[in-house]
Amino acid sequence: MAASLSCFLFSFYLLFSSFFPPPSCGAPAVTTTAMPCSRAEVLLQEARAPEFFDWLKGVRRRIHQHPELAFKEYKTSELIRSELDALAVEYAWPIAKTGVIASIGSGEGPRFALRADMDALAMQELVDWEYKSMESGKMHACGHDAHVAMLLGAAKLLQSHKNDLMGSVRLLFQPAEEGYAGAYHVLQEGVLEDVEAIFGMHVDPTIPTGTVSSRPGTFLAASARFLATIKGKGGHAAAPHTTIDPVIAASFAILGLQQLVSRESDPLESMVVSVGIVKAGDAYNVIPESVTFGGTFRSVTTEGLYILLSRIREIIQMQATAHRCVAIVDFMEKTLKPYPATVNDEEMYKNAKKVGEDLVGKGNVYLSPLAMGAEDFSFYTQRMPSTVFNVGTKNESIGASYHLHSPYFFLDEQALPIGAAFHAAVALSYLDGHSDFST
Ligand SMILES: *[C@@H]1O[C@H](CO)[C@@H](O)[C@H](O)[C@H]1NC(C)=O
Repeated sequence: MAASLSCFLFSFYLLFSSFFPPPSCGAPAVTTTAMPCSRAEVLLQEARAPEFFDWLKGVRRRIHQHPELAFKEYKTSELIRSELDALAVEYAWPIAKTGVIASIGSGEGPRFALRADMDALAMQELVDWEYKSMESGKMHACGHDAHVAMLLGAAKLLQSHKNDLMGSVRLLFQPAEEGYAGAYHVLQEGVLEDVEAIFGMHVDPTIPTGTVSSRPGTFLAASARFLATIKGKGGHAAAPHTTIDPVIAASFAILGLQQLVSRESDPLESMVVSVGIVKAGDAYNVIPESVTFGGTFRSVTTEGLYILLSRIREIIQMQATAHRCVAIVDFMEKTLKPYPATVNDEEMYKNAKKVGEDLVGKGNVYLSPLAMGAEDFSFYTQRMPSTVFNVGTKNESIGASYHLHSPYFFLDEQALPIGAAFHAAVALSYLDGHSDFST
């Protein structure tokens, strides 16, 4: 256990390090045993201490049992504030209805933000375990309960090291990531105006606990939705000539949409158009008055998303016209704002990757593949240098192997201290690198 003794001593060193220049990893100051021991490892060890770990699990489980949907995270917000009170951390709220933004550090620049999303999904949990969701039809199947616990863990770590902070850290508990663009609304309120850069994290059940991953540049796609109604003239199915059949118009439109990706987009710049909703009549022998259909569309570039948007409108309207119908196409931009692409800043990515390597070891930091999922963290990436990392939560031996948004989603809580320490270590490292005293 030489390593942990060395880390223990190093913790002491950290405690008093405001009297000394910033510590350098791999060269513990107060011990001759040259065990490599980075600040990230020290933070991880603190977060893994039994009492700390139990507290993290407790926070996550309480949130897990009481999931709340977008912009309705009232109890979650209350829990966050009461934990921040207990840690004597200052905060402001409400931010975008239920959000909370905590502040640790001198209040002076540089200012760095860490973000966790808070909302759950409208689906029934099917995992039978002690802390199963008690709210029927609501579930934390995207790990936002863990994200909140990790960020509160970071608050606890940073608060106990606040004398080491070469600036200020804002801890943002953000509402409504699932479809409702909470990040956009947080930015609208101006609370991040004086922040220079931001880091976020997402649990990832495709990679094992103890690993993290990300990629430089584009990380996730831009995404939006559409809902179209094509209106014709209903009537008896045996007398089609007396009707204007919207089913045929909708069918042509839906097939037409599939040409967008296959014929109009650069095959090397991924796009998706998927129709998931089709609703028409109810009877075998009735031609319905109208057909409603809708879906999602995505692109690895934000510009690509808007090209798709205007072509989707054109195709549906023109197919409707060609079939003597009329169409209304709604992109619901007010309530369901299109998400831009999530683009990781190269420099931020590199620094966080380095911190990740210190935290979990070089071999446990993976390069993520580009994915067509979307994340409202993208709104931050448009405003300031940002990066988001995945934190592995896969552990087959405890059934933690189901995908995000699965009713069986179950995460390995051993990832909680890793997430807490990762947040705190990235913030400390950013401030060290950007303070006026850094060289
Ligand atoms: C999976 O969980 C078990 C039980 O908590 C633990 O002993 C094991 O180390 C975990 N595996 C990983 C990869 O973390």
